[in-house]
Amino acid sequence: MKSNDSAIKLDELSSNIPHWYDPEGDGVPLTEGCGATVTDAAGDSYLDFVSSLYCVNAGHDDQRIIEAITDQLGRIPYVSSAKENDARARLADALADVAPEPLTDVTFSVSGSEANELAIQIARESQDAPKVLTRWQSYHGSTYGAASLTGDPETRNAVQSHAATTGGVKFLPPLPDVFDAEGAELAEKAADHVEFVIRNEGPDSIAAIVIEPVAGSSGGFPAPPGYFERLRELCDEYDILLIADEVITGFGRCGEMFGMQTEGVDPDMITFAKGVTSSYVPLGGVLMREAIADRVRDGGTAVGQTFAGHPVACAAGLAALEAYEDGLIDNVQSLAPVLREELEALAERHDVVAEVRGRGFLWGVVVEDPETGEPFANAWVDDDAENPVEDVAEAARDAGLLVGVGRPNFQLLVAPPLCIDESDIYDAVETLDEAFTAVFE
Ligand SMILES: Cc1ncc(COP(=O)(O)O)c(C=O)c1O
Repeated sequence: MKSNDSAIKLDELSSNIPHWYDPEGDGVPLTEGCGATVTDAAGDSYLDFVSSLYCVNAGHDDQRIIEAITDQLGRIPYVSSAKENDARARLADALADVAPEPLTDVTFSVSGSEANELAIQIARESQDAPKVLTRWQSYHGSTYGAASLTGDPETRNAVQSHAATTGGVKFLPPLPDVFDAEGAELAEKAADHVEFVIRNEGPDSIAAIVIEPVAGSSGGFPAPPGYFERLRELCDEYDILLIADEVITGFGRCGEMFGMQTEGVDPDMITFAKGVTSSYVPLGGVLMREAIADRVRDGGTAVGQTFAGHPVACAAGLAALEAYEDGLIDNVQSLAPVLREELEALAERHDVVAEVRGRGFLWGVVVEDPETGEPFANAWVDDDAENPVEDVAEAARDAGLLVGVGRPNFQLLVAPPLCIDESDIYDAVETLDEAFTAVFE
């Protein structure tokens, strides 16, 4: 058990207003990290099975990345984003090398939201069409443009309540409950639905489909086999760009460098952030096909951001890519089956765990009332309902394990850093098991 001293309220601590601020939250200030472990101000340690925000992929103290950052600071800390810089150019080349083959060029941003905004700016310009299709429930960021893509109604409603966002069209995710089907039948029905939406919106009005290869904060669910192949065919048939949002799924999280490589389907663009530097320094960006890049280069660009492709971040990115290729992705490939088996065994032991689903080191644990087959609570439907899923996450945290709560919040998310070992998995799932027991039995 953790000492209660660690539950310091943030308003007792500083003038900082955190993002996703919860006035009822305990605001435990984290002050140190090592490998897959973080330590709070009271000295209590936690196994971080959510990689902070699904982003510290290399763990909390990878010396290769830290040294690269320090070296870059010693050479030149900042270079205008309108100019070339060696670290920036080398990272762009390295990303193109590890990306799906048709993606040859990169433009950088600062965050994942801005990467998605950049991608849709480029897509709209390139296709001369205003609309972008995304999945209902998805998360693509919370700035105005990115929030218009986000299908999670909580984020979208918060952003749209004071200003309209335009061009976002939603389609339903390929989930068994939504289409009352599984496997190949689900892939077919869900893809037919996307085609229905395309035809109704008017194919010529659609610039792109933006989609995560495996759902991130919305629940760790992969698409059924064949779904992405059909999306690719639809995009080709209707002349729509397929953009993979790999802000969470990129950089080894799903067992390959990029999540689309686990699907074997090439997108036209990939947006990335988070894991590109293991989040040691902010960086995002867009990988794109040569034909799209040629159009961007030919026309020049009229917009930019001061911090896009910051040299310190690019140096961190180069070192992080090496770390992923030097064993961390192999580690995901060898331990993912253990994580899967352990989570499936957890589901066997607790009848409130309706389903576990995921790929690599990105898993959702769905919680339902076994009597009704419905979630105990879903804040998007009823804001005030008591949510035992949050109690489970809290009980786990009190016992020294951090996991995520999904959006919608009837599920837990398990996404450890890629550097964990087998015993971390056993420890984490045992703690989760005890937390389920404490809350439900
Ligand atoms: C899939 C996905 N896309 C985009 C974003 C937005 O990234 P950022 O928070 O860096 O703006 C997130 C953030 O969690 C994400 O999960």
